[in-house]
Order: sequence, then structure tokens, then C-alpha cells
Amino acid sequence: MLEIASEGIATGTTSQPKEHPMAHLVSIDDVDMRYGGADGTLAVSGLTMRVGKGDFAAVVGPSGCGKSTLMKLVTGLHIPQVGTVIVAGQHVTQPISIVGMAFQNPTMLPWRTTLENILLPLEIVEKHRHRLRANKKEYIEKAEHLLELVGLKGFGAKFPWQLSGGMQQRANLCRALIHEPELLMLDEPFGALDAFTREELWCVIRDLHAAQGVTIVLVTHDLREAAFLADKIFVMSARPGRILKEHRVPFERPRDLEIMYESRFNDLVHQLHGEIAQARVTA
Ligand SMILES: Nc1ncnc2c1ncn2[C@@H]1O[C@H](COP(=O)(O)OP(=O)(O)OP(=O)(O)O)[C@@H](O)[C@H]1O
Ligand SMILES: [Mg+2]
Repeated sequence: MLEIASEGIATGTTSQPKEHPMAHLVSIDDVDMRYGGADGTLAVSGLTMRVGKGDFAAVVGPSGCGKSTLMKLVTGLHIPQVGTVIVAGQHVTQPISIVGMAFQNPTMLPWRTTLENILLPLEIVEKHRHRLRANKKEYIEKAEHLLELVGLKGFGAKFPWQLSGGMQQRANLCRALIHEPELLMLDEPFGALDAFTREELWCVIRDLHAAQGVTIVLVTHDLREAAFLADKIFVMSARPGRILKEHRVPFERPRDLEIMYESRFNDLVHQLHGEIAQARVTA
């Protein structure tokens, strides 16, 4: 397992979020995104949020409020009709390459081994393609290291259909990380897992964040997951989604799963629950 380095990670000891624009890896400003033309569905409206470099941000909100839309706007899979999305100082106008993505349903190619699936992003992104050809052995070692990190040592040669759902989720995370993204976007990646596997993967993600300083945006319906992992929690309104509230999570790092039995943890989860319940009835 990785050693956990707690320095450099924002905690509740800093009371004011940094406002200097260079400190933000992600800036979304007054964004509207409508699907299906002028009469279509307005998914998000007046959406403004910022994520600092190295931060772990969680996004929670009612079902259908535009969370996955937000993820697609940041990664450049959708371009908004109104407002701006800036990632790493660049205006997002097309899919960006500094990002790793993992979504709820792992979409592994069944005809490729797990290891070959993990290497896939390197084949797709132009700048990595040359590096992969030149340093294939090095990348295979890296993929094997990631597999070990998520508890899948030795499973690289198996096909995805030979893995359980939880194992596929783990492999999915390796694929999101293989190109060492600066930004990791996770859209309910643990949704389909049993409680124990989910907690195990929370710890994997927590340690990755601590050790590699990657910036993470996690969409989740699980408020305990958000409170355990994140430095900041953004609560969204019902559709059209916008940010209603930003919480700074005050728990020191490194965090242990035991924290979830403390009253301060339950108080935060309770508060978030109340805000989302309220958001569901008021658009
Ligand atoms: N490609 C699309 N075309 C048309 N409408 C869409 C598309 N994607 C999303 N929508 C609509 O936009 C709204 C927001 O969807 P989105 O998937 O962003 O919500 P969500 O918060 O991720 O929901 P959930 O919590 O269920 O995952 C919904 O009303 C949805 O029907
Ligand atoms: Mg979604």
C-alpha cells in the first residue's frame, strides 16, 4: 500500500478558499447547458464552481439535477451554450487529454484482456500513442503496479468477463489513472459495489489522492462517501442544476474509516441530507 502524505492537502484548518485564479484547476462560470435544441431540456443553468489544484471535490444533488452533465462539461464532451469552462488555464472547446474518467458502469472491451483495456487511453490520445510504442514495457509495468494497488495483482491477463463486477470497477479505475492525469473525474464509480468493496476502494482513492496530488471531482449519491473522501462538497439544486452550497470538510487527514462512527461525521452527513431533501422540492 502507498504511504499517505498528508501535507499539502487542504483541510478545515484553512477557513477561506483560495480565490487566486491560477490556484484553480477547474473554473466553471455562469454556464447553461441545454440538450436537444432551443426547446430541449435545460440541464444546468447559472452553474458556477471552482476546484483548486490538488483538491478533492465531491458533487451531490437530487437525481437528474445535472451532475453527469457537469462532468461532461468539464471534460469537454459537451460544450455549453452559455458561460465558460476553463481547465488548467485553457478554455475547454473539445475533449481534454489531462483528464482520467471513470463512470458507474465499467465499459471494458470484452475482446481485450484487462491489461490491454487499461492501456487503451494511451492508444487513443495522440501524444501518448508514440510514448506507448517506444516504451511499451514500462507502461505494462505501470499497469501492473496499478492493478496491484487496487488489489488485482496477477489479473491483467484475464478478460473482463472473467472478473466480478467489483473487480471490473477496480480495473476501470486503473484505466482512468494509466496516463497519470492531472484531473480525475469520477461519476458514481462505486455505485454498483457491495458496502465492503466500496469502502476498500474509498481507501484506494484516498491514498492515491494523498500520494499523487491528483485533483479529483467525484459525483456521488452516497453522502458518507462524499464526507469521507472530499475536502469540499458542492450541493446542487434540482434541474436546471446550479450550486446551492459549498461545504468545506473540516476533518483532518489522513482519515480512517472509523471516522464514520463519530458524531461530527454524522452531523455533516445529516446536514447534507437535509439540504438535498430541500433541493428536491425547490428547483
Ligand atoms: N444526451 C442527452 N440528451 C438529452 N437530455 C439529456 C442528455 N443527457 C442528460 N439529459 C437530461 O439532462 C438532465 C440532467 O441529466 P444528468 O445525467 O446530467 O443528471 P444527473 O444529475 O447525472 O442524474 P443522476 O443522478 O440520475 O445520474 C436530465 O433531465 C436528463 O434527462
Ligand atoms: Mg448522472
